[in-house]
Amino acid sequence: VRILVLHGPNLNLLGTREPGVYGTTTLQGINQSLMALASELSLELRILQTNSEGAMVDAIQGAMADCQGILINPAAYTHTSVAIRDAIAAVALPAVEVHLSNVHAREPFRSHSYIAPVALGQICGFGAESYLLGLRALAQRLGK
Ligand code: DQA
Repeated sequence: VRILVLHGPNLNLLGTREPGVYGTTTLQGINQSLMALASELSLELRILQTNSEGAMVDAIQGAMADCQGILINPAAYTHTSVAIRDAIAAVALPAVEVHLSNVHAREPFRSHSYIAPVALGQICGFGAESYLLGLRALAQRLGK
C-alpha cells in the first residue's frame, strides 16, 4: 500500500519559518519521522513538496494510478484552492488533511478549508505530530 504525502507551499522553509507558529522541526525531519512510522505500518510513501498549486493537482491526479491514500498539508492553498479540492474529489482516494498549527485558533481566514469536506478528516494543532496522527488514521482506514 502506497500513500502520497503532499506538502504545499512554504513548507520547504520549516525549521526557520515562523518557528513560534510552526516549530523548529524541518521538513526533512518530518519526512524522516513519517518514513519511520510508515515502515512500522508496512506502508510505502511517495513524498512531494511543491510551492505550486498546479503541481499539487498533478500529483493528486498521478496518485490515482498507484497510490491508495493521500496525506496532505495544503498549507495556504487550504484556504483558497477549489482546484485541489476538486482533484481530491476526482481521484476518490481517502485523504487526510493535516496542519502543524491549529488553524482554528489563528486568523479567521484560516478556519475555512476548501479541502476538509472532501477529506476523511482534518488533524491540526499538534505540530509535526499532526502528520504522524494523520498517517495512522489513513493506515487504519486502509486496514494496515
Ligand atoms: C499550515 C496552516 C496554513 O494556514 C498556512 O498557510 C500554512 C501552514 C499549517 O501546517 O499549520 O502554510 O497548513
